[in-house]
Amino acid sequence: MTIDWAGLRLAAATAARRAYAPYSRLRVGAAGLTSDGRVVTGCNVENASYGLTLCAECGLVGALHATGPAAPAPDDPQASPPALVAVAVVAGDGGPLLPCGRCRQLLLEAGGPRLLVDTAQGPVTLDVLLPAAFVGGDIIARRDASRSP
Ligand code: THU
Repeated sequence: MTIDWAGLRLAAATAARRAYAPYSRLRVGAAGLTSDGRVVTGCNVENASYGLTLCAECGLVGALHATGPAAPAPDDPQASPPALVAVAVVAGDGGPLLPCGRCRQLLLEAGGPRLLVDTAQGPVTLDVLLPAAFVGGDIIARRDASRSP
């Protein structure tokens, strides 16, 4: 799949203009290309309680699921949720912004370790930004086997 990085950055910059960031005054926009060819976006939304602030990537991942195909049944072995293949995150000045640690973890679940993330030096795979990540498989492998679910 061809990735229009300039288009993704533009979509992220457009989303950043819609940010609600009265406290930090750092506007952030995120845009992602999905495996089915859609572009989804998000912007940061701050809150007076500060800790409730939503990063732009949170909105992006919400949009990925909320605008995608109907969710498959949880027990469907063929089920594959919508996925991201490339993401651009930019600040209000239009330049790339590296996702915070929490959002790297969020993006991992939405795109996997090979997800391409735009940086000032060019796209890198997410596993470069988040090596040795905790994943859902760790829960299954390490949960207490002596207890029933
Ligand atoms: N922010 C994001 O939207 N994404 C990130 O990956 C880093 C930080 C936002 C959250 C907050 O509104 C502002 O940037 C300052 O931290």
